[in-house]
Amino acid sequence: MKGVILAGGLGTRLRPLTLVTNKHLLPVYDRPMIYYPIQCLINAGIDEVMVVTGGEHAGDFLKLLKNGKHLGLRSLRYGYQEGEGGIADALKLAEDFADGGKICVILGDNIIEGNMRKAAADFFTQKSGAKIILKEVPDPQRFGVVEFDGDPSKGKIKRLIEKPKEPPSNMAVTGIYFYDGDAFKVCKDLKPSGRGELEITDVNNYYLNRGDLTCETLEGWWTDAGTFESLFRASKFVAESGANHLDLKGARPGLFGGGIRG
Ligand code: G1P
Repeated sequence: MKGVILAGGLGTRLRPLTLVTNKHLLPVYDRPMIYYPIQCLINAGIDEVMVVTGGEHAGDFLKLLKNGKHLGLRSLRYGYQEGEGGIADALKLAEDFADGGKICVILGDNIIEGNMRKAAADFFTQKSGAKIILKEVPDPQRFGVVEFDGDPSKGKIKRLIEKPKEPPSNMAVTGIYFYDGDAFKVCKDLKPSGRGELEITDVNNYYLNRGDLTCETLEGWWTDAGTFESLFRASKFVAESGANHLDLKGARPGLFGGGIRG
């Protein structure tokens, strides 16, 4: 299984910091933000990665990440998103890279304490469809949110709603997704949302309606880092938990690579 890191956007909520560089290159404690999703993929056994970025600072990624070997990646590819079409629009650029196989997609500003190895292994054996990773949060209106069908403890999802003003639950959809090869056709068929973007939540709802969406709840903390508050929180979480000393010993690069197509 290959990994796709989506690291585009203008980062307007972090201006003036993002006037001179891309959001995903800003420091989170002792390293650039994008190191965390890379490490997350490596820890899940995924070492063939594509970074999709955009904007005028895109060249900085090459300076920092080079060919990815020094970070433990077997191969690193880049994609350049024109304009601001949203997350699902950026994902379209990974179609050739995915080559019909399964992928793990992670938003470049999502940082987790734990690891995705079990979720990746589960998805590797899932016949088709998608998997999303959920986490209970105090501020669900900032995220994609789960509306449960009946008793939430039964975990049956009715639909996913992007940034609802009145969230039907506290269960947020994190920016870590697993998709089969159909995701690209789904992205191409999407219509822009009210904010003029192709929403990843619509991709997930497509799989839900098809009866082909599984989910897992994340252990340990999770944060995004797209606002000053969350960027600060991310550094604090990392510094306090030692999550920056990432468990390279436990990583098994290539677990899902090596020519296996799932
Ligand atoms: C995006 C997604 C949202 C998800 C969040 C996770 O939001 O649209 O569904 O919950 O990432 O970080 P955005 O980063 O665009 O605010």
